[in-house]
Amino acid sequence: MHGGGRARRGGSAATRLNRLGPRVALVSKVLAAGCALGALFGLSPPARAMDYARQNYILHCAGCHQLDGRGSAANDVPTLHRIPGLLVTIARGREFLAQVPGIIYSPLSNAEVAEILNWMLGEYNKDELPKDFAPYTAAEVGKYRAIRPPSIMDVRAEVLTELAKRGITVDYQAH
Ligand code: HEC
Repeated sequence: MHGGGRARRGGSAATRLNRLGPRVALVSKVLAAGCALGALFGLSPPARAMDYARQNYILHCAGCHQLDGRGSAANDVPTLHRIPGLLVTIARGREFLAQVPGIIYSPLSNAEVAEILNWMLGEYNKDELPKDFAPYTAAEVGKYRAIRPPSIMDVRAEVLTELAKRGITVDYQAH
């Protein structure tokens, strides 16, 4: 009985590995490219470039938001600098960041999404981030991510209106 169980598990693990093979090779190529680009953009030590959240950012977000996180005005992809740090100061904004399509539909786990959001906020929003900012947790991301707002742009508009009431104006053109 036990032997059979082991054999089955062994077999499926091997199959999984075989399937993963090309993917792992591709990922390491992309990561190598990411590191080379990191060096090109003057990002310091490989240790930093190899940060796991940054690797996931390169793989899952940079295609649209660019390697430097500045997005692309021509393609209506917003910058990730400074603005998320303002949005996250109110509860609805904190939820919103975990509900954008790039996150809702990504294959990343909730823990990986939490890591990317925390990394993005620390990396691109240092000056805006409240001193008492509590990092996202996997459980929190899971809760927000389970809700798919019918119009994410309406949610963003609501968040911006609430911020404006508090005297915080957000100008996408300026960033
Ligand atoms: C296919 C392109 C694409 C990918 C991939 C993508 N995004 Fe986005 N992202 C957008 C666009 C377009 C918007 C703006 C409007 C929208 O759809 O909500 C946006 C909005 C955002 C916002 C809100 C910014 C604001 O000020 O409103 C955040 C935060 C964000 N994305 C983070 C991420 C992260 C983190 C990833 C990777 C896990 C990611 N995105 C992947 C295209 C993308």
